[in-house]
Amino acid sequence: MGAYDEPPLRHHHGGVQPIRDIFTSLIYVALCLALLYLLCLTPRGSPENAVSAMLRHVTIASSGEGRGGGGGGGGGCDYSEGRWVAAAGHARRYNGTACDVKGSEDCARNGRPDTGYLDWRWRPASCELPAFDAAAFLAAARGRHVAFVGDSMARNQAESLVCLLAAAAFPYRLVYRDREPGTRKFWRWAFPTHGVTVSVYWAPFLVMAAGRPENFSVQHNLVYLDTLAERWSADADTMDVAVISTGHWFWNPTVYYHHNGGEVLGVHNLPELNHTEIGFFSPYREAIRMSLERLLGSAAAGRRGRTVVVTTFSPAHFEKEWDDPATCARTRPYEDGEKEVGGIEGELRSIAIEEAAAAARSRVEVLDVTRLATMRPDGHPGVYMHRDPFARGVPERLQSDCLHFCLPGQVDTFNEILLQLLIKKKQQ
Ligand SMILES: *[C@@H]1O[C@H](CO)[C@@H](O)[C@H](O)[C@H]1NC(C)=O
Ligand SMILES: *[C@@H]1O[C@H](CO)[C@@H](O)[C@H](O)[C@H]1NC(C)=O
Ligand SMILES: *[C@@H]1O[C@H](CO)[C@@H](O)[C@H](O)[C@H]1NC(C)=O
Repeated sequence: MGAYDEPPLRHHHGGVQPIRDIFTSLIYVALCLALLYLLCLTPRGSPENAVSAMLRHVTIASSGEGRGGGGGGGGGCDYSEGRWVAAAGHARRYNGTACDVKGSEDCARNGRPDTGYLDWRWRPASCELPAFDAAAFLAAARGRHVAFVGDSMARNQAESLVCLLAAAAFPYRLVYRDREPGTRKFWRWAFPTHGVTVSVYWAPFLVMAAGRPENFSVQHNLVYLDTLAERWSADADTMDVAVISTGHWFWNPTVYYHHNGGEVLGVHNLPELNHTEIGFFSPYREAIRMSLERLLGSAAAGRRGRTVVVTTFSPAHFEKEWDDPATCARTRPYEDGEKEVGGIEGELRSIAIEEAAAAARSRVEVLDVTRLATMRPDGHPGVYMHRDPFARGVPERLQSDCLHFCLPGQVDTFNEILLQLLIKKKQQ
């Protein structure tokens, strides 16, 4: 049932094409294939997860509040540039199985033998980033609905947050999950001591989309650039902290439409359809702009003091063929100077920053993770997206996840920064 059971997708790049631009490079094709698989995974979901997740009510006594603030404040610090420094145990803060992370990101359970990827912390160039403080987070978010909207990277960050909070023994429970077994598109957790809810809204393009996002056997995406995806936009007025995180799906073959009127605006990476190639930078920009307008535009936004955050693009690290078992097998971060942010990744990052700046002065926060994520090729599940992948020897071909992050892992850093952004907002 998992996407990796599907026959390989062959494909939109069959014919000889002129080398028009960066989009048609070979690397891009390989990456695109790999991403298609990952992004469309229906989680294989171990049975214990599927059954027990809903019923679980964690009721360990709260450790209470006021164990110190987030420290350091957030004012003016630029978290985007810095380096990973050795810090033994820094990311060993929870057991992913105990807080029910997606099975394919539960690297420890899946048998990943090396654990050094948990021993690093991000040191910004010009300030300190305090370790995550669950009490401080819940205090900063008291009575609020924290919603992560976007693709599976948004979910990756939401699950990290829930685990970080749960690890500090705050009682919580899963209060909603989508009915479809094995999916994690719309989940919600409650932390009743502080009246905080944390939600995930799966909307890989932010705007309305059909085709592949709904049905993996369809070969491309159909994206309606003038209409926001329904579920999250219907709930937008209930969101007090909205974290938008998207990007990877835009790389895949797509037809872009106007919903009203249904005319084709253009395509990305579908030359056989004989429509204008429009790439994906402008659709990505459009989707973010519309989402910010929705979140900032309503009367409820001002009344409730909504905090809107855009997470920048977090790159994948496929280094070999997508199904080579060693395509992301590194066990250390890149050294300073060893890796730069890629051109496309950097452009997506810039677009998010520009749209945040243009939306409304200082009302949109940017959670700029592109650089820090680029430096962590070791943080992905790789073949440990599968449980005990080498139990029967090393297979020649095996799907790897070089896109999401192991939980616990470096995506916890995203939430360390998110906490500082919330503290800064509170102080304003
Ligand atoms: C993590 O939690 C699971 C389920 O609660 C448990 O079976 C497992 O032993 C734990 N792992 C570690 C390393 O504590
Ligand atoms: C998914 O798409 C395939 C191919 O277009 C189609 O045959 C199938 O009926 C679709 N499945 C669902 C559940 O819509
Ligand atoms: C593709 O579009 C061009 C310009 O609109 C048209 O001249 C051509 O006949 C079309 N080709 C096909 C195969 O539809």
